[in-house]
Formats: sequence, C-alpha cells, structure tokens
Amino acid sequence: MEATEQSEHLSSRRSFLLTGAAVGAGTIGVGRLLSDPPVAHASGGLTPGDAAILQFLAAAEILETDAWQQYNELGGIQDTEVPGGSGNPDYTDALSVLDSDMAQYIHDNTDDEFTHFTFINAYLKAHGVETVNLDKFRTLPSSKATGAQQIGRLTNLMQLTVDTSWWTRYRSDSKNPDFGDTLPQAVPDLAVGQHPAIPRSDADLSPADHLQAIANTAGFHFAFIEQGGTSLYPSLAQRVTHTEVLRILLSIGPTETMHFQTWQDKAGNAPPLTDPTTGLTFPDLNADGELLQTNLIMPEPTIFLDRKFPICSIIRPTQTDGAAMGALKALTANGLFIGQSAEFFAVLTKLAQAADAARHGT
Ligand SMILES: [Fe+2]
Repeated sequence: MEATEQSEHLSSRRSFLLTGAAVGAGTIGVGRLLSDPPVAHASGGLTPGDAAILQFLAAAEILETDAWQQYNELGGIQDTEVPGGSGNPDYTDALSVLDSDMAQYIHDNTDDEFTHFTFINAYLKAHGVETVNLDKFRTLPSSKATGAQQIGRLTNLMQLTVDTSWWTRYRSDSKNPDFGDTLPQAVPDLAVGQHPAIPRSDADLSPADHLQAIANTAGFHFAFIEQGGTSLYPSLAQRVTHTEVLRILLSIGPTETMHFQTWQDKAGNAPPLTDPTTGLTFPDLNADGELLQTNLIMPEPTIFLDRKFPICSIIRPTQTDGAAMGALKALTANGLFIGQSAEFFAVLTKLAQAADAARHGT
C-alpha cells in the first residue's frame, strides 16, 4: 500500500479502540460480543455468526501482521510499502542462505497481512459492526538489534517454541490431525525450549552459526504461522452464512496457503547445524527418507472425512469445531504472547469463543 494509505489506516485503527466506547451508530463493545448481536446493515447485514468469525479473523490478522512487521524491519525489504524498520544486514544475509529472495518474500508476506486485517475491518465497518483494534496491547518489547523500531509489540518473536509437525503432516499419506493423529517433528529441538527467531540485540549477530540458527528458526516459524492460516480459513468457512462472507474467507485463505507453500520450500534450505551458543540443532532432513525429504513440498494425499474413501491431496486439519480456540491455543503455545496481559488473553479468548459459537445460518 502507499504511504498515505498506510497513515490513514494507522490513524483509523487508533480511533477504534477496544474499550467498548461507542464509535458510531450500530457498534458494540467487545465486552458484549457474546451477548448482543451486531446491528445488521440495512442492505443485507451480517449475521452475528458471520460478524464473530470476521472479528476473530481480523484479530488473528492483526497479530500475524505484528509478527511479520518485526521480521520485515530486520530481514525484509525496507520501503514505504512496509515502513518502520531500517534492516539488519547480518540477519538479512543469514536469511538469504535459505533463498536469495527471502527479503522480498518477507516484505510481501508482511504487506499481505496488513491488507487482510485492513480489509476485514473495513468490511465490518461497512456493515455497522465494531471493528477490531488491539493497539492497547502493543506493550511487548522490540528487538534491540540494529534495524528494529523501538515501539511496543503485540507479539514476542524472541522466546518461540515452534511446532514443526506441519512438515511431516503434509508428507504423510496415512495420517491426518482431523482423525486424532499426531505427527513427528521435523526439528525436534525447536518444539521444546524457547528460541529467538530474530536477533534480540546485536550480541546475537555472532558467532555465525548462532545467527544462522536464529535465521533457520525464523524459516520454520514463517511456515508454522502460514500453515495455521491455511487451516483456519477453511475450518471457519464451514460455519459462515452469507455467500459474500464465504467469498471473503475463500479468497483470503488460499493466500495464506501460497505463503505457506513458499515458506515450506525455503525452510527445506535451512542448513543443518548446531548453534554453538545454545546447542539448538537443525538436523539433515534428507538423511532419513521420505517423511522428512526437503523437496516433497506438494501435499501428499492422505485420509479425508472417512477412511472408506480413497486418499486425497488436501489441506489438513480442516475440522471446524473449536477451530478458532485451537488457533489461539497454537499461537499461545508458540510463545508469541509471552509477556502479554491477562486482559489480552481474555479479549482474544472471547473473540475466539464467539467465532466458534457461530453456525451456518446464525
Ligand atoms: Fe493473513
């Protein structure tokens, strides 16, 4: 987006605080989301269920944007389209080991996320439903490394526990989380402990393999975030009512999948190594056969709906019950919200529960 549009949406975001204060006719406070249906727009308004699903997605996209913004400030292209940072050459170089276009891809993923929440909020507003603004929770510290803005953040990229089972989930032809299956980690060390995915300060810029381990962590985290969106949209789409809201979910969701597919390929280029500072090890994924092989990035067909059917190449999971709370729990377990307030979790939980209570036709 252009710089002028950026400043406009920043100022409009500031004007819609989640305080419950009236911001115009037909709006509601977040504290009443569960009890009061939003006021319908005169020409084909939103059902309470559609409003709740879109509000949760707006919140998720705001959180996603905050994380991507931090990555872009340090490791992406610096321009007016995604302003704020000044870049960290050493971190950017370490990321480029995964692909020479990493900085461009990080920039473009960040730009996409800005447009997702901005669009959803604009759509909510056009239908007289309260938009989502999480600005009061921008309280977490920024990286102190060269290149990062010193502003409050919504998400924490410096203490991540990254579930890398998406890697094997999309390579299995016989398991699917929707059937209760669990799949093994690609990088077992990342799934335990707490790991920075951005340099916390310039002290993290050396030794070289320490910085590369941080860049590798980011590489797997990028795919973790985007595979979450890849499942979330089809999971929630099953419970929207209006075809136009369905169209929104069916049009945004696959862009998350395009991101995921790119990041899955790049994560496979993360060099095997052990961080000399922390001991974090990235294994050689091509050493143990097909379940981990790096170039198998097309989704392997697997079981779907019922084992009586032939296997099918699909997004998984797409189970709709509890999908919003499931996404919130996954992001929380990821460590993204370490340091956030109890009120933050209460607001996000309320939004997720309202989305999960939505049913087609409600
Ligand atoms: Fe998004």
